[in-house]
Amino acid sequence: MCRLSDASFSKGTTVLLSGGLLCTMVAAGCADAGRVHSTMHVNPCLIPDTRYSIPLSLSAGKEHRAVMLQHLETLQVIMNALVEEDYELAQGLTEAHIGFFRRRQAMAHQEPEKFPAAYHDLALAHHEAAEELVRVIPSKDLKQILPSVNNVLKACVACHVEYRVGEG
Ligand code: HEC
Repeated sequence: MCRLSDASFSKGTTVLLSGGLLCTMVAAGCADAGRVHSTMHVNPCLIPDTRYSIPLSLSAGKEHRAVMLQHLETLQVIMNALVEEDYELAQGLTEAHIGFFRRRQAMAHQEPEKFPAAYHDLALAHHEAAEELVRVIPSKDLKQILPSVNNVLKACVACHVEYRVGEG
């Protein structure tokens, strides 16, 4: 089926060669996409939702959401302080808003008994990452600070892949 007559040989070879080239390019493209995917492994539109649903009352759910929205906002303000090289502000905000103290305060209104132990572990890991960030900010060295910010974000993502809030 793939045997080529003499007349069509050169044309066939050209087709084969360009086909081969195309495959290589596509493969390289896929390799690139693979690299992107390996760091962005959550696309809620493409994968079925297998997250464990935590049944919270309406008010605890609202409180949980308010804390989350504040987390995101706080991270943006922390990033802003880092961009402006206001390290003291960045440190203070991290400590006050995503450190251990904040956790005790926030959890008090969120029916902590309804969250599985593994959720609490992920939450603790997240606050630990924040405390580590608090420790490195005074170095004023972005090469140390940025990996710590990244670790905080990784801890946010680690929990989001596993859990969602449902009604209960
Ligand atoms: C221990 C688990 C956990 C950690 C850590 C965590 N989250 Fe969440 N977050 C959740 C859950 C559960 C939801 C609800 C998701 C759902 O029901 O779809 C949520 C929802 C959110 C939402 C959506 C709020 C809305 O309006 O619905 C934002 C924004 C958010 N989180 C930001 C963050 C940020 C930023 C961090 C890290 C600084 C973080 N979260 C860390 C568990 C976590």
